Amino acid sequence: MEFRHLGRSGLKVSEISYGNWLTHGSQVEEDAAKECVRAALDEGITTFDTADVYAGTKAEEVLGRALKGERRESLEIFTKVYWPTGPGQNDRGLSRKHITESINGSLRRLQTDYVDLYQAHRFDHETPLEETLKAFDDLVRQGKVLYIGVSEWTAGQIAQALKIADEMGFDRIVSNQPQYSMLWRVIEPEIVPLSEKEGVGQIVWSPIGQGVLTGKYLPGQPPPEGSRATDGSGGSAMIARFMNDDVLTRVQDLKPIAADLGLSMAQLAIAWVLQNPNVSSAIVGASRPDQVRDNVKAAGVKLDADVLKRIDEVLGSVVERDPAKTQSPRTRP
Ligand SMILES: NC(=O)c1ccc[n+]([C@@H]2O[C@H](COP(=O)([O-])OP(=O)(O)OC[C@H]3O[C@@H](n4cnc5c(N)ncnc54)[C@H](OP(=O)(O)O)[C@@H]3O)[C@@H](O)[C@H]2O)c1
Repeated sequence: MEFRHLGRSGLKVSEISYGNWLTHGSQVEEDAAKECVRAALDEGITTFDTADVYAGTKAEEVLGRALKGERRESLEIFTKVYWPTGPGQNDRGLSRKHITESINGSLRRLQTDYVDLYQAHRFDHETPLEETLKAFDDLVRQGKVLYIGVSEWTAGQIAQALKIADEMGFDRIVSNQPQYSMLWRVIEPEIVPLSEKEGVGQIVWSPIGQGVLTGKYLPGQPPPEGSRATDGSGGSAMIARFMNDDVLTRVQDLKPIAADLGLSMAQLAIAWVLQNPNVSSAIVGASRPDQVRDNVKAAGVKLDADVLKRIDEVLGSVVERDPAKTQSPRTRP
Protein backbone atom coordinates (compact mmCIF):
# COMPACT_ATOMS: atom_id res chain seq x y z
CA MET A 1 0.00 0.00 0.00
CA GLU A 2 1.08 3.59 -0.61
CA PHE A 3 0.07 6.52 1.59
CA ARG A 4 -0.73 10.18 0.91
CA HIS A 5 -1.38 13.22 3.05
CA LEU A 6 -5.02 14.13 3.50
CA GLY A 7 -4.88 17.50 1.76
CA ARG A 8 -2.28 19.70 3.40
CA SER A 9 -2.89 18.13 6.82
CA GLY A 10 -0.40 16.01 8.73
CA LEU A 11 -2.70 12.97 8.53
CA LYS A 12 -1.65 10.19 6.18
CA VAL A 13 -4.25 7.94 4.58
CA SER A 14 -3.96 4.82 2.47
CA GLU A 15 -4.18 5.61 -1.27
CA ILE A 16 -6.99 3.12 -1.38
CA SER A 17 -9.65 3.32 1.31
CA TYR A 18 -12.45 0.89 2.04
CA GLY A 19 -16.04 2.21 2.12
CA ASN A 20 -19.21 0.38 3.19
CA TRP A 21 -22.09 2.24 1.44
CA LEU A 22 -24.82 -0.14 0.15
CA THR A 23 -22.90 -3.20 1.38
CA HIS A 24 -22.58 -3.45 5.18
CA GLY A 25 -25.93 -3.84 6.90
CA SER A 26 -27.66 -4.11 3.51
CA GLN A 27 -26.56 -6.00 0.33
CA VAL A 28 -23.88 -8.06 2.10
CA GLU A 29 -24.30 -10.41 5.10
CA GLU A 30 -22.26 -9.57 8.18
CA ASP A 31 -19.81 -12.48 7.76
CA ALA A 32 -18.95 -11.38 4.21
CA ALA A 33 -18.68 -7.75 5.37
CA LYS A 34 -16.18 -8.79 8.06
CA GLU A 35 -14.21 -10.85 5.51
CA CYS A 36 -13.96 -7.78 3.25
CA VAL A 37 -12.69 -5.65 6.14
CA ARG A 38 -10.20 -8.41 7.06
CA ALA A 39 -8.98 -8.52 3.46
CA ALA A 40 -8.65 -4.72 3.42
CA LEU A 41 -6.55 -4.75 6.62
CA ASP A 42 -4.41 -7.65 5.38
CA GLU A 43 -3.73 -5.76 2.13
CA GLY A 44 -2.56 -2.66 4.01
CA ILE A 45 -5.67 -0.47 3.84
CA THR A 46 -5.76 1.68 6.97
CA THR A 47 -8.52 4.15 5.99
CA PHE A 48 -12.20 3.24 6.37
CA ASP A 49 -15.14 5.41 5.27
CA THR A 50 -18.74 5.15 6.40
CA ALA A 51 -21.68 7.46 7.23
CA ASP A 52 -24.36 7.70 9.90
CA VAL A 53 -27.07 7.26 7.24
CA TYR A 54 -25.70 4.11 5.54
CA ALA A 55 -28.14 1.20 5.95
CA GLY A 56 -30.14 3.35 8.38
CA THR A 57 -27.13 3.55 10.79
CA LYS A 58 -26.43 -0.23 10.62
CA ALA A 59 -23.34 0.18 8.42
CA GLU A 60 -21.47 1.99 11.20
CA GLU A 61 -22.37 -0.79 13.62
CA VAL A 62 -21.07 -3.49 11.26
CA LEU A 63 -17.84 -1.57 10.65
CA GLY A 64 -17.42 -1.03 14.40
CA ARG A 65 -17.73 -4.77 15.03
CA ALA A 66 -15.45 -5.64 12.09
CA LEU A 67 -12.69 -3.31 13.34
CA LYS A 68 -13.05 -4.28 17.02
CA GLY A 69 -9.74 -5.41 18.48
CA GLU A 70 -7.65 -3.66 15.82
CA ARG A 71 -5.01 -1.19 16.97
CA ARG A 72 -6.90 2.14 16.89
CA GLU A 73 -3.75 4.20 16.26
CA SER A 74 -3.16 2.26 13.02
CA LEU A 75 -6.58 3.11 11.56
CA GLU A 76 -8.16 6.22 10.09
CA ILE A 77 -11.94 6.06 10.54
CA PHE A 78 -14.08 8.52 8.57
CA THR A 79 -17.78 9.12 8.95
CA LYS A 80 -20.33 11.74 7.89
CA VAL A 81 -23.40 13.70 8.93
CA TYR A 82 -26.30 15.36 7.03
CA TRP A 83 -28.74 12.80 5.59
CA PRO A 84 -31.69 11.76 7.81
CA THR A 85 -31.03 9.29 10.61
CA GLY A 86 -34.48 9.46 12.20
CA PRO A 87 -38.01 10.76 11.72
CA GLY A 88 -37.61 14.14 13.45
CA GLN A 89 -37.17 17.59 11.93
CA ASN A 90 -33.76 17.78 13.57
CA ASP A 91 -32.56 14.27 12.67
CA ARG A 92 -30.94 15.70 9.52
CA GLY A 93 -28.90 18.59 8.20
CA LEU A 94 -25.96 20.43 9.72
CA SER A 95 -27.48 22.27 12.68
CA ARG A 96 -25.55 22.33 15.95
CA LYS A 97 -28.22 20.04 17.44
CA HIS A 98 -28.00 17.34 14.78
CA ILE A 99 -24.20 17.46 14.49
CA THR A 100 -23.86 17.07 18.26
CA GLU A 101 -26.33 14.20 18.43
CA SER A 102 -25.08 12.47 15.32
CA ILE A 103 -21.42 12.34 16.32
CA ASN A 104 -22.37 10.76 19.65
CA GLY A 105 -24.39 8.09 17.82
CA SER A 106 -21.58 7.45 15.34
CA LEU A 107 -18.95 7.07 18.09
CA ARG A 108 -21.21 4.64 19.95
CA ARG A 109 -21.90 2.54 16.85
CA LEU A 110 -18.27 2.57 15.70
CA GLN A 111 -17.10 1.71 19.24
CA THR A 112 -14.44 4.39 19.24
CA ASP A 113 -13.68 7.54 21.25
CA TYR A 114 -12.99 9.69 18.19
CA VAL A 115 -13.20 9.68 14.41
CA ASP A 116 -10.24 10.80 12.35
CA LEU A 117 -12.35 12.70 9.83
CA TYR A 118 -15.90 14.03 10.21
CA GLN A 119 -17.52 15.05 6.93
CA ALA A 120 -20.54 17.20 6.10
CA HIS A 121 -22.24 14.75 3.71
CA ARG A 122 -23.83 17.62 1.71
CA PHE A 123 -24.19 21.41 2.06
CA ASP A 124 -27.15 22.43 4.27
CA HIS A 125 -28.85 25.48 2.76
CA GLU A 126 -31.07 25.77 5.87
CA THR A 127 -28.30 26.28 8.44
CA PRO A 128 -25.93 29.27 8.68
CA LEU A 129 -22.48 28.07 7.66
CA GLU A 130 -21.00 29.73 10.76
CA GLU A 131 -23.21 27.53 12.98
CA THR A 132 -22.05 24.35 11.25
CA LEU A 133 -18.37 25.28 11.28
CA LYS A 134 -18.47 26.33 14.94
CA ALA A 135 -20.21 23.06 15.87
CA PHE A 136 -17.53 21.08 13.99
CA ASP A 137 -14.80 23.16 15.60
CA ASP A 138 -16.23 22.38 19.03
CA LEU A 139 -16.08 18.65 18.25
CA VAL A 140 -12.40 19.04 17.40
CA ARG A 141 -11.81 20.85 20.74
CA GLN A 142 -13.69 18.05 22.52
CA GLY A 143 -11.41 15.45 20.92
CA LYS A 144 -14.34 13.61 19.30
CA VAL A 145 -13.16 14.53 15.81
CA LEU A 146 -9.60 15.09 14.60
CA TYR A 147 -10.15 16.62 11.13
CA ILE A 148 -13.07 18.21 9.30
CA GLY A 149 -14.12 17.56 5.70
CA VAL A 150 -17.07 17.98 3.36
CA SER A 151 -18.68 15.93 0.60
CA GLU A 152 -20.15 17.09 -2.71
CA TRP A 153 -19.79 20.77 -1.83
CA THR A 154 -19.27 23.20 -4.72
CA ALA A 155 -16.06 25.19 -5.11
CA GLY A 156 -17.96 28.31 -3.97
CA GLN A 157 -19.22 26.59 -0.82
CA ILE A 158 -15.75 25.28 0.05
CA ALA A 159 -14.21 28.73 -0.53
CA GLN A 160 -16.85 30.36 1.68
CA ALA A 161 -16.22 27.85 4.48
CA LEU A 162 -12.46 28.38 4.35
CA LYS A 163 -12.93 32.15 4.49
CA ILE A 164 -15.18 31.91 7.55
CA ALA A 165 -12.82 29.48 9.25
CA ASP A 166 -9.87 31.80 8.69
CA GLU A 167 -11.78 34.85 9.94
CA MET A 168 -13.18 33.10 13.02
CA GLY A 169 -10.13 30.97 13.83
CA PHE A 170 -12.08 27.72 13.31
CA ASP A 171 -10.50 24.46 12.23
CA ARG A 172 -10.16 24.41 8.41
CA ILE A 173 -11.66 21.86 6.05
CA VAL A 174 -8.89 19.48 4.92
CA SER A 175 -10.84 17.27 2.52
CA ASN A 176 -13.71 17.00 0.09
CA GLN A 177 -15.42 13.73 -0.82
CA PRO A 178 -16.75 13.95 -4.39
CA GLN A 179 -17.75 11.37 -6.95
CA TYR A 180 -14.79 11.00 -9.33
CA SER A 181 -13.98 8.42 -11.98
CA MET A 182 -13.06 8.17 -15.65
CA LEU A 183 -16.80 8.57 -16.30
CA TRP A 184 -17.52 11.42 -13.84
CA ARG A 185 -15.00 14.27 -13.88
CA VAL A 186 -17.10 17.21 -12.71
CA ILE A 187 -14.59 18.28 -10.03
CA GLU A 188 -11.83 19.03 -12.52
CA PRO A 189 -12.78 22.55 -13.75
CA GLU A 190 -13.40 24.31 -10.40
CA ILE A 191 -13.05 22.16 -7.28
CA VAL A 192 -9.60 20.71 -7.97
CA PRO A 193 -7.90 24.08 -8.76
CA LEU A 194 -9.38 25.68 -5.62
CA SER A 195 -8.48 22.64 -3.51
CA GLU A 196 -4.89 22.58 -4.75
CA LYS A 197 -4.51 26.25 -3.80
CA GLU A 198 -6.15 25.79 -0.38
CA GLY A 199 -4.62 22.43 0.62
CA VAL A 200 -7.88 20.46 0.44
CA GLY A 201 -7.51 16.81 -0.63
CA GLN A 202 -10.11 14.80 -2.53
CA ILE A 203 -11.17 11.43 -1.11
CA VAL A 204 -13.07 10.20 -4.11
CA TRP A 205 -16.11 7.93 -4.20
CA SER A 206 -17.22 5.37 -6.77
CA PRO A 207 -13.85 5.33 -8.57
CA ILE A 208 -14.94 2.11 -10.34
CA GLY A 209 -18.30 3.69 -11.27
CA GLN A 210 -20.00 1.36 -8.74
CA GLY A 211 -18.59 -1.64 -10.61
CA VAL A 212 -19.40 -0.48 -14.17
CA LEU A 213 -15.73 0.21 -14.96
CA THR A 214 -14.83 -3.43 -14.21
CA GLY A 215 -16.48 -4.24 -17.56
CA LYS A 216 -18.64 -6.95 -15.96
CA TYR A 217 -21.88 -5.38 -17.26
CA LEU A 218 -22.24 -6.28 -20.92
CA PRO A 219 -24.29 -4.11 -23.28
CA GLY A 220 -27.64 -5.63 -24.20
CA GLN A 221 -27.32 -8.39 -21.56
CA PRO A 222 -28.88 -8.78 -18.12
CA PRO A 223 -26.50 -7.84 -15.28
CA PRO A 224 -24.72 -10.71 -13.49
CA GLU A 225 -26.62 -12.09 -10.48
CA GLY A 226 -25.33 -10.88 -7.13
CA SER A 227 -23.98 -7.63 -8.56
CA ARG A 228 -24.99 -4.12 -7.48
CA ALA A 229 -27.17 -3.76 -10.58
CA THR A 230 -29.37 -6.63 -9.31
CA ASP A 231 -29.43 -5.44 -5.68
CA GLY A 232 -33.06 -4.68 -4.88
CA SER A 233 -32.19 -3.08 -1.51
CA GLY A 234 -31.08 0.15 -3.22
CA GLY A 235 -27.98 -0.59 -5.30
CA SER A 236 -29.73 -1.10 -8.63
CA ALA A 237 -31.28 2.39 -8.47
CA MET A 238 -27.95 3.98 -7.58
CA ILE A 239 -26.00 2.41 -10.44
CA ALA A 240 -28.77 3.05 -13.02
CA ARG A 241 -27.24 6.26 -14.41
CA PHE A 242 -24.31 4.30 -15.92
CA MET A 243 -26.33 1.29 -17.08
CA ASN A 244 -26.92 2.26 -20.69
CA ASP A 245 -25.51 0.60 -23.79
CA ASP A 246 -23.46 3.59 -24.93
CA VAL A 247 -21.50 3.66 -21.65
CA LEU A 248 -21.29 -0.14 -21.37
CA THR A 249 -20.02 -0.55 -24.96
CA ARG A 250 -17.30 2.05 -24.53
CA VAL A 251 -16.24 0.48 -21.23
CA GLN A 252 -15.77 -2.85 -23.06
CA ASP A 253 -13.41 -0.97 -25.41
CA LEU A 254 -11.18 -0.12 -22.43
CA LYS A 255 -10.33 -3.81 -21.99
CA PRO A 256 -7.39 -3.86 -24.44
CA ILE A 257 -5.86 -0.86 -22.64
CA ALA A 258 -6.01 -2.64 -19.27
CA ALA A 259 -4.71 -5.86 -20.85
CA ASP A 260 -1.71 -4.06 -22.45
CA LEU A 261 -0.76 -2.77 -18.99
CA GLY A 262 -1.30 -6.13 -17.27
CA LEU A 263 -3.98 -4.54 -15.07
CA SER A 264 -7.50 -5.66 -14.28
CA MET A 265 -10.19 -3.21 -15.35
CA ALA A 266 -10.88 -2.30 -11.70
CA GLN A 267 -7.18 -1.61 -11.15
CA LEU A 268 -7.08 0.62 -14.26
CA ALA A 269 -10.09 2.60 -13.02
CA ILE A 270 -8.63 3.12 -9.54
CA ALA A 271 -5.16 3.93 -10.88
CA TRP A 272 -6.79 6.52 -13.17
CA VAL A 273 -8.21 8.58 -10.26
CA LEU A 274 -4.93 8.27 -8.35
CA GLN A 275 -3.02 9.96 -11.21
CA ASN A 276 -4.62 13.22 -10.05
CA PRO A 277 -2.23 14.57 -7.37
CA ASN A 278 -5.09 16.37 -5.63
CA VAL A 279 -6.65 12.97 -4.85
CA SER A 280 -5.64 11.82 -1.38
CA SER A 281 -7.42 8.48 -1.56
CA ALA A 282 -9.80 6.43 -3.69
CA ILE A 283 -12.59 4.88 -1.64
CA VAL A 284 -13.54 1.51 -3.07
CA GLY A 285 -16.48 -0.62 -2.11
CA ALA A 286 -16.58 -4.42 -2.24
CA SER A 287 -19.14 -7.16 -1.87
CA ARG A 288 -16.49 -9.91 -1.74
CA PRO A 289 -12.93 -10.11 -0.33
CA ASP A 290 -11.42 -11.09 -3.71
CA GLN A 291 -12.56 -7.70 -5.05
CA VAL A 292 -10.59 -5.95 -2.30
CA ARG A 293 -7.50 -8.02 -3.14
CA ASP A 294 -7.89 -7.13 -6.84
CA ASN A 295 -8.47 -3.41 -6.20
CA VAL A 296 -5.55 -2.73 -3.83
CA LYS A 297 -3.05 -3.59 -6.55
CA ALA A 298 -3.86 -0.21 -8.14
CA ALA A 299 -1.84 1.54 -5.41
CA GLY A 300 1.36 3.04 -6.79
CA VAL A 301 0.51 2.30 -10.46
CA LYS A 302 1.65 5.03 -12.89
CA LEU A 303 -0.27 5.62 -16.12
CA ASP A 304 1.57 7.56 -18.82
CA ALA A 305 0.10 10.34 -20.96
CA ASP A 306 -0.49 8.01 -23.95
CA VAL A 307 -2.63 5.70 -21.83
CA LEU A 308 -4.68 8.62 -20.48
CA LYS A 309 -5.19 9.85 -24.06
CA ARG A 310 -6.33 6.41 -25.25
CA ILE A 311 -8.85 6.25 -22.38
CA ASP A 312 -10.25 9.68 -23.29
CA GLU A 313 -10.58 8.68 -26.95
CA VAL A 314 -12.48 5.50 -26.05
CA LEU A 315 -14.87 7.13 -23.57
CA GLY A 316 -15.44 10.28 -25.65
CA SER A 317 -18.78 11.95 -25.05
CA VAL A 318 -20.02 9.67 -22.23
CA VAL A 319 -17.69 11.42 -19.77
CA GLU A 320 -19.60 13.87 -17.54
CA ARG A 321 -17.62 17.08 -16.99
CA ASP A 322 -20.22 19.71 -16.04
CA PRO A 323 -19.27 21.35 -12.68
CA ALA A 324 -22.95 22.26 -12.17
CA LYS A 325 -23.57 18.54 -11.44
CA THR A 326 -22.10 19.08 -7.95
CA GLN A 327 -25.24 19.81 -5.97
CA SER A 328 -26.84 19.53 -2.56
CA PRO A 329 -30.60 19.48 -1.94
CA ARG A 330 -32.10 23.00 -1.81
CA THR A 331 -34.04 22.02 1.30
CA ARG A 332 -33.20 19.36 3.87
CA PRO A 333 -34.26 15.85 2.79
N1 LIG B 1 -19.95 11.00 -0.07
C1 LIG B 1 -20.89 10.43 -0.78
O1 LIG B 1 -21.92 11.03 -1.08
C2 LIG B 1 -20.69 9.02 -1.23
C3 LIG B 1 -21.56 8.43 -2.16
C4 LIG B 1 -21.32 7.12 -2.55
C5 LIG B 1 -20.22 6.43 -2.02
N2 LIG B 1 -19.41 7.02 -1.09
C6 LIG B 1 -18.25 6.30 -0.49
O2 LIG B 1 -17.49 5.70 -1.50
C7 LIG B 1 -17.39 4.30 -1.24
C8 LIG B 1 -17.26 3.55 -2.52
O3 LIG B 1 -18.42 3.75 -3.34
P1 LIG B 1 -18.86 2.60 -4.32
O4 LIG B 1 -19.12 1.36 -3.52
O5 LIG B 1 -19.91 3.11 -5.21
O6 LIG B 1 -17.46 2.44 -5.14
P2 LIG B 1 -16.90 1.57 -6.30
O7 LIG B 1 -15.61 1.06 -5.76
O8 LIG B 1 -16.91 2.36 -7.55
O9 LIG B 1 -17.92 0.34 -6.50
C9 LIG B 1 -17.89 -0.72 -5.59
C10 LIG B 1 -18.72 -1.89 -6.08
O10 LIG B 1 -18.22 -2.34 -7.35
C11 LIG B 1 -18.15 -3.77 -7.38
N3 LIG B 1 -16.71 -4.11 -7.43
C12 LIG B 1 -15.70 -3.56 -6.71
N4 LIG B 1 -14.52 -4.09 -7.03
C13 LIG B 1 -14.78 -5.01 -7.99
C14 LIG B 1 -13.95 -5.88 -8.70
N5 LIG B 1 -12.63 -5.90 -8.50
N6 LIG B 1 -14.53 -6.71 -9.62
C15 LIG B 1 -15.85 -6.67 -9.83
N7 LIG B 1 -16.71 -5.86 -9.16
C16 LIG B 1 -16.16 -5.03 -8.24
C17 LIG B 1 -18.81 -4.24 -6.08
O11 LIG B 1 -20.22 -4.37 -6.27
P3 LIG B 1 -20.97 -5.74 -6.67
O12 LIG B 1 -20.06 -6.88 -6.37
O13 LIG B 1 -22.20 -5.71 -5.86
O14 LIG B 1 -21.26 -5.58 -8.14
C18 LIG B 1 -18.56 -3.08 -5.16
O15 LIG B 1 -19.46 -3.02 -4.05
C19 LIG B 1 -18.66 4.00 -0.42
O16 LIG B 1 -18.57 2.82 0.32
C20 LIG B 1 -18.69 5.22 0.47
O17 LIG B 1 -17.76 5.08 1.52
C21 LIG B 1 -19.64 8.30 -0.71
